[in-house]
Amino acid sequence: MSTRRAFLKGAGITTSLVAAGAIWRAWDQGLLGAARGPAYEPWTAWRADAGEGPRGLVRAAILAASPHNIQPWRFRVAPTRVDLFEDTERSIGAIDPYRREVHIGLGCALENLLLAAGAGGYAHRLAVLPDPANPAHAARVDLSPAPPAASDLYRAIPARHTNRGPYDRRPVPQDVLGALEALGLDQPDVAVAWYTNESDRRRVGALVVQATEAIVGDEQQARDSGRWLRASWRDVQLHRDGITLDAWGMATLVRTVAKLLPPLPQRLNDSSWLWATRDVHVATAAAFGIILVRAARSAAQRIAGGRVWQRMHLWATLRGLAMRPLNQILERADREESGGTPPRFGRAAVELVGRSGWQALMPFRLGYPLRDALASPRRAVSDVLL
Ligand SMILES: Cc1cc2nc3c(=O)[nH]c(=O)nc-3n(C[C@H](O)[C@H](O)[C@H](O)COP(=O)(O)O)c2cc1C
Repeated sequence: MSTRRAFLKGAGITTSLVAAGAIWRAWDQGLLGAARGPAYEPWTAWRADAGEGPRGLVRAAILAASPHNIQPWRFRVAPTRVDLFEDTERSIGAIDPYRREVHIGLGCALENLLLAAGAGGYAHRLAVLPDPANPAHAARVDLSPAPPAASDLYRAIPARHTNRGPYDRRPVPQDVLGALEALGLDQPDVAVAWYTNESDRRRVGALVVQATEAIVGDEQQARDSGRWLRASWRDVQLHRDGITLDAWGMATLVRTVAKLLPPLPQRLNDSSWLWATRDVHVATAAAFGIILVRAARSAAQRIAGGRVWQRMHLWATLRGLAMRPLNQILERADREESGGTPPRFGRAAVELVGRSGWQALMPFRLGYPLRDALASPRRAVSDVLL
């Protein structure tokens, strides 16, 4: 064989091996099906089976939002009752030292559970934090038969996803903001503040970026946040929680390349998060909002705030509107307080709210999305039952 033919043959073999390797890596990383696999099955098997009883309601509850997708919940199911408990072992550490976000997430799960109860033919009686001796007992829901009443919000449960991609900045009409706010009118301790004009948006946006810089510069917070990033397909399917590349809101090509790369060191993840916060999340928000409560340290009010957030996000989903919490300012404020450092962001949050008698619970952005958001993984119902 001539040297040239041998070379071409060698190059052909190498190319085939590289192609096979890329296909294997693509398969291994779930590139051939974004947001697919067992970790995503709860999104399709979300309606209760006939005759399943109250256990079926948990299928809807676990599709709720939660901080860093830690899913800090447990459920105990009886023939006429579902109890919701905080899973005290699941935490984002120094990002949420007072478990503010955990309680909001419990409120989100509770809201989905109650919507599913109505759709499943149950009336309910709700007791929030029913056991003073056990603060982890978030809610008790007693159920009794009633005519099924599936609401639009219930039907939106499997379509709601946190959207971290760019929005088109078209203003959100005032009546839409008003309707979103009205969803919380039955919760007297919850309100919403809006930041829609250019100067207000700049003000909130600048603070979000500065708080992100502070988190990235805080080794402990950066590490505790980074622990919940799931870069590989295997980890996603194994843990079924956390923040995935699919959920990061990237363009398809960028996401594909990101998945082919080996997991990035934390420093690179942090700087790409900071870049995206400044140039995408803040820069393209049509408006910001903050969920307010009268007492942000009250677990009951945080749960109420979480119920309102879940409702608002479901309602927005039905109208093609994207939403996404941006908690960095309060994560820094809580960090300052727990570490006894000067309350730079704590003070900024108070000034931002500017209403006496109300405190910030959860800032967020909203707008009309340029990209669809993909689903995040969920643990199975059987994994979260007590
Ligand atoms: C209390 C709370 C805080 C959150 N904070 C943020 C945040 O600061 N940034 C963000 O991108 N998403 C945030 N999220 C969204 C979660 O990461 C998201 O709900 C979770 O990953 C599950 O994804 P899904 O909402 O698409 O189902 C938060 C959600 C909750 C309930």
